[in-house]
Amino acid sequence: MSDWDKTMDLLFGFVTGHIHSRMFETILKFSICDLLEDGPKHYSEISKIIGFKNESYCYRLMRYFVPYKLFNESVVQVGLFSKTPSSTQFSKNGTLKNLGRFHCQDHHYRIFESLPKTLEMGKNQGPSSIGLSSFWEHFETDESYKQLFHNAMKDYTSLIIDRLISKISLSPNFKTVVDIGGSHGFLIGKLLESNPNIHGINFDLENIINSSTSKNENFQHPRLKHVSGDFFNSVPEADCYILKYILHDWSDEKCITILNNIHKSLKPNGKLFINDLVLDPSNYTKEAVFKDILMMQYFDAKERSINEWHQLFEKCGFKIDSVDTSISPQLMIVSKINSSNINLNDCTNFNSEIVEEKLKNSLPQFVNC
Ligand SMILES: C[S@@+](CC[C@H](N)C(=O)[O-])C[C@H]1O[C@@H](n2cnc3c(N)ncnc32)[C@H](O)[C@@H]1O
Repeated sequence: MSDWDKTMDLLFGFVTGHIHSRMFETILKFSICDLLEDGPKHYSEISKIIGFKNESYCYRLMRYFVPYKLFNESVVQVGLFSKTPSSTQFSKNGTLKNLGRFHCQDHHYRIFESLPKTLEMGKNQGPSSIGLSSFWEHFETDESYKQLFHNAMKDYTSLIIDRLISKISLSPNFKTVVDIGGSHGFLIGKLLESNPNIHGINFDLENIINSSTSKNENFQHPRLKHVSGDFFNSVPEADCYILKYILHDWSDEKCITILNNIHKSLKPNGKLFINDLVLDPSNYTKEAVFKDILMMQYFDAKERSINEWHQLFEKCGFKIDSVDTSISPQLMIVSKINSSNINLNDCTNFNSEIVEEKLKNSLPQFVNC
């Protein structure tokens, strides 16, 4: 790609990105991808089904996405559109429709208007700039937004669930596994299906586990309990915890509270399976650095490198046994440090130089299979 083409990519990808996003949102809002699932359709038919007043606008919007391979347009009959693998992903038959709609939500645009201010002040200005005490507050006031978020998370999980489950190998001695912040329990429910001797707990906030709409969404399995609570207070006792996309939502300080609560409730020889991104400074993926900025502006949180993960876990009396980089987000297996000289109450006086020295001698095993 020439330098000019790279510059044009920046212009159309970033400088005009908000326009692309609005166009894509319109496609998703009117479920246009769904309408092509049963076979090709002329734009006039699509326009009529949706109820647009000017069918040529519909044509121009759909045509815009042809170079991006979201739709195909027939070369024989102009205006006849058909599905592509990408449009199927964003349709009722795919796994990205909810995620796409979630990211296009109005208040996400508005939270990002204060990104320059966050940089200037060196402090998160996102949710507070639109009158929220935190990103999570919006879930309490808007039930449909909350449902969209949890459906989006489920869609996202379903992209990797089979591989993830194949990598979560549970000891035969484990009796209880808790999915911390497990949403509606899709992952833990599926994990129980392949582990007949395990009992599972899906642990999440009261308004996720017990609200009237959520109850229909909670995954049903005879060995699965849905328990509500707040991981900043305590977590149910278990032999094993799964934390999928939890710690990246929180600052180090908040993560320490969560991990200390888990440390107290984890039974001897227990394990944590942490499914979260591990930033690799020698090979940043677009997904990882994008999410890092999202975390900064939504939650005052971050994605972490392996050294940052090490430091965080060690502060709370844990160590990383292995990191599986063949899956994204990566899977870290973590256990308690069996040492009596770690003072969990002394986390705030943590000395990073000492830990870095220790790290050099005790890097985990990296698995990439
Ligand atoms: C990013 S979502 C991840 C959901 C799920 N683990 C997944 O990967 O699909 C974070 C989850 O943490 C839950 N959560 C947030 N604050 C919590 C708290 N204080 N106690 C328990 N769960 C909490 C949210 O309700 C949400 O389900």
